[in-house]
Amino acid sequence: MFSGRAWRLVAFGDPEEGIELQETVWAEPPPGQLLIRVRTAGAGFPDVLMAAGRFPLLGAPPFGLGEEAAGEVVAVPPGSRFAVGDRVAGITAFLEGWGGYAEYAYLREHSTVRIPSGMTDEQAGGFPIGFRTAYAALVERAPVEPGQTLLVLGAAGSTGAAALQLGRALGATTIAVAGGPEKLAFCARHGADHVVDHRAGDMTARIDAITRGRGVDLVYDPVGGSTAATALRSIAPRGRIAVVGLASGSPVPLDPMDMLLRNYTAVGVLASPGEPAAEAAVWDRLADLAGRGEIATPVGAVHGFGDVPRMIAAQAAPGPGKSVVRVA
Ligand SMILES: NC(=O)c1ccc[n+]([C@@H]2O[C@H](COP(=O)([O-])OP(=O)(O)OC[C@H]3O[C@@H](n4cnc5c(N)ncnc54)[C@H](OP(=O)(O)O)[C@@H]3O)[C@@H](O)[C@H]2O)c1
Repeated sequence: MFSGRAWRLVAFGDPEEGIELQETVWAEPPPGQLLIRVRTAGAGFPDVLMAAGRFPLLGAPPFGLGEEAAGEVVAVPPGSRFAVGDRVAGITAFLEGWGGYAEYAYLREHSTVRIPSGMTDEQAGGFPIGFRTAYAALVERAPVEPGQTLLVLGAAGSTGAAALQLGRALGATTIAVAGGPEKLAFCARHGADHVVDHRAGDMTARIDAITRGRGVDLVYDPVGGSTAATALRSIAPRGRIAVVGLASGSPVPLDPMDMLLRNYTAVGVLASPGEPAAEAAVWDRLADLAGRGEIATPVGAVHGFGDVPRMIAAQAAPGPGKSVVRVA
């Protein structure tokens, strides 16, 4: 048994009122999970959806928050690939109510990776969700080929900035779309070959100029709404849009007749684990890319453990990069 504190959602609504720090006990991990002493945990827009009761895969509170965490393994079930003392990062058992904003966290064994040397605690805590989601889109669901052009919406955000880097590592030419000069500068530092401000000027004309009128092969869309609607105009014939999320509040408005007449495809993306051995191979590949310096968590703000409710409220209008909580 391990005891410590965990931030738990007790009521939907304002995160600063509905999230409580509670004394909690963690039992030995069941098969398929491991227990870590948390050092860092990654944040993102899903926290906002969970606190508001708008996250599709979760029921009613109470439940722990935090989809991803990094730290040292303190307990494993018999037959685990991991050992006590391993330094790991992975996706928490948040769907079962156990999150990463806590002193201990259960990680799903097959969605966990040993942290490559050179990766900081902050990078490790913010690594799993962004890069696993980008991998689901750019490798599994809408594979991007070397030499193709990838347009990333929300490119200074958590999963967008990961897609930017993974896209570049896969050999694509990357165009980052973000709002404002600070976020554009951030994208340029994190793998963007070109940057486009969706708040200033004509986004379509700018992409047209970058692609010399050809359009883009793939749009990575965690934003939806009017920005995604505008991006659709820039898809090349036989191109694709990977539908990842709706940070704007609504998904991309798709028109089947437009898809038919302009010959493009929309692909839904849910980063969900595959068969265990294949899933472990995905994480090994991501760790290998990180170990070789081809991808790195685009860390933004780092928050204290006591600041979690305020930090989640702030995710509704995030600054550039991946927000991370330093737990210990
Ligand atoms: N399909 C999956 O498996 C999967 C996995 C993880 C996340 N997601 C989803 O992906 C979406 C993005 O998540 P994230 O963690 O990357 O979010 P994030 O870090 O908050 O980034 C979202 C970006 O969206 C843009 N944006 C536009 N309108 C916005 C608005 N009204 N409020 C907030 N941001 C807005 C912002 O960029 P600008 O300021 O530059 O416009 C922001 O940087 C969410 O819907 C999340 O649920 C899906």
